[in-house]
Amino acid sequence: MELVVYDDYQTLSRQTAKYIAELVRKKPNTVLGLATGSTPLGLYQELVHLYNEKEIDFKDVLTFNLDEYVGLPKEHPQSYYYFMNQHLFSKVNIAKNNIHFPRGIFTDPKEACREYEKQLTEVDHIDLQILGIGSNGHIGFNEPAKRMTLDTHITDLAPRTIQDNARFFNDSNEVPRQAITMGIGSIMRAKTILLMAHKESKAEAIDAIFSGVVDPNLPASILQLHSNVLVLVNKEVANRLH
Ligand code: F6R
Repeated sequence: MELVVYDDYQTLSRQTAKYIAELVRKKPNTVLGLATGSTPLGLYQELVHLYNEKEIDFKDVLTFNLDEYVGLPKEHPQSYYYFMNQHLFSKVNIAKNNIHFPRGIFTDPKEACREYEKQLTEVDHIDLQILGIGSNGHIGFNEPAKRMTLDTHITDLAPRTIQDNARFFNDSNEVPRQAITMGIGSIMRAKTILLMAHKESKAEAIDAIFSGVVDPNLPASILQLHSNVLVLVNKEVANRLH
């Protein structure tokens, strides 16, 4: 795992977008694993900019998002599908059929998980996985637990995650209590992983993932076993690392 420090969030976002554009130039049918939340917002803005400048073509790109809230339909403004559509998909030439998302609305949870797992298996691996990190060390919605789960699964959101994500809702009672998330297995099978963090509140978790200990209570610590992970931070985070 390599730590890369950028001066600021904008540079971090821009360089990550350029990295993706370069990859897509080399492999037009790149499989991208995508995250939502505030961390990749700048990245998506930069990708849209590069698309408008004809520096990246999404025509053959495939995407797999990490997670979705259980109970929120695609049209819900706080659903992760809505987020992706608003910030990236509707602004570039990605083919609708190439967008993959776990379903937040289902009657059979096992079936919904199997369905996403099957789609992931069909592409074999993700070429480039973008990750944010929860202040509790979650990746996707793989929350701290006794064990890590390899496959797509339904998870109870940790109280800290509900609290962290309440800022997107009118109040914390509106935050869904469960999510459907890609498991640790698909994340670890990605060829390259870029984990981004730009808020001071993430420094403790970032520190912990360089500790040399793999701990299911800090899911991101598993990334230490992957041979190609870049941890991209701005100075604000870097200055708080030990
Ligand atoms: C979202 C996701 C989460 C977020 C994490 C950080 O798809 O997978 O793991 O990356 O909760 O969220 P922000 O970026 O809002 O701080």
